[in-house]
Amino acid sequence: MPERYTLGHHESVLRSHRWRTGANSAAYLLPHLRPGMRVLDVGSGPGTITVDLARAVYPGHVIGIDASADVVAEATRLATGQGVTNVEFRVADAYDPGFDDGAFDVVHAHQVLQHLGRPVEALASWRALVSPDGLVAARDCDYVGAIVAPARPGLELWASTYQALARHNHGTPDAGRHLKAWAREAGFSVVESSASLWCFEDDSDRAWWGGLWADRTVDSEFAVGVTRRGVGDAATLAAIREGWLAWRDDPDGWMILLHGEILARA
Ligand SMILES: C[S@@+](CC[C@H](N)C(=O)[O-])C[C@H]1O[C@@H](n2cnc3c(N)ncnc32)[C@H](O)[C@@H]1O
Repeated sequence: MPERYTLGHHESVLRSHRWRTGANSAAYLLPHLRPGMRVLDVGSGPGTITVDLARAVYPGHVIGIDASADVVAEATRLATGQGVTNVEFRVADAYDPGFDDGAFDVVHAHQVLQHLGRPVEALASWRALVSPDGLVAARDCDYVGAIVAPARPGLELWASTYQALARHNHGTPDAGRHLKAWAREAGFSVVESSASLWCFEDDSDRAWWGGLWADRTVDSEFAVGVTRRGVGDAATLAAIREGWLAWRDDPDGWMILLHGEILARA
């Protein structure tokens, strides 16, 4: 069975990707970036983090790659619209990005390894792409460590259903806690690991995050995957949607999404 990207690229999914920036998603890496560096961003999605990496290494060059031609086109439009000229986006595969060994100072991937069935193999291929003193940087969620309050049956169902579907698609929903071990297995000599989190709690956070998850449960690849692969049914999705809508409207609503991070040297 081939692996599948669990969430797909419906607008309700991209609504969360487009919010991401270097500051809120790659803060552990930014202090290591220098003008002139060559950076590869694997699984760059709509490119909002990638253009921030490009700003940080200007006049160095950044290449974002993604399996989806649609998000590559969106990322290209974003860079053009923002006048960021030292970045380009291409369709390519995370396991075999198609560059010479040592072509980059930094290979970065945000929330990509959690979706890959062979994360150690991907990390080993990225290790070959960095120069001898280069860095591979990765950050991934740990959905098993996510906390959503107040507890509700629909949100507990969300957690178990998302994790089951991700595993069914050959992903690792608690990837954050495995990054360090995966990098060591991939042969990196030095692996620094850390953790950071997103906290969503005020009215505007909850309207955005609760709203996008409510929409994903009816419209996105998540909804299709749950029913098609027998992880749940229409009642499961309705309960999850109801849980997120109630959380969105609850002034007590609060959640954290834990992430693991690694900075690995060949
Ligand atoms: C969760 S999104 C993260 C996007 C971006 N890094 C961000 O954080 O906003 C994961 C991305 O990885 C891409 N992807 C998944 N499997 C891939 C593969 N084998 N090769 C290249 N891209 C892949 C998906 O198309 C998707 O855009």
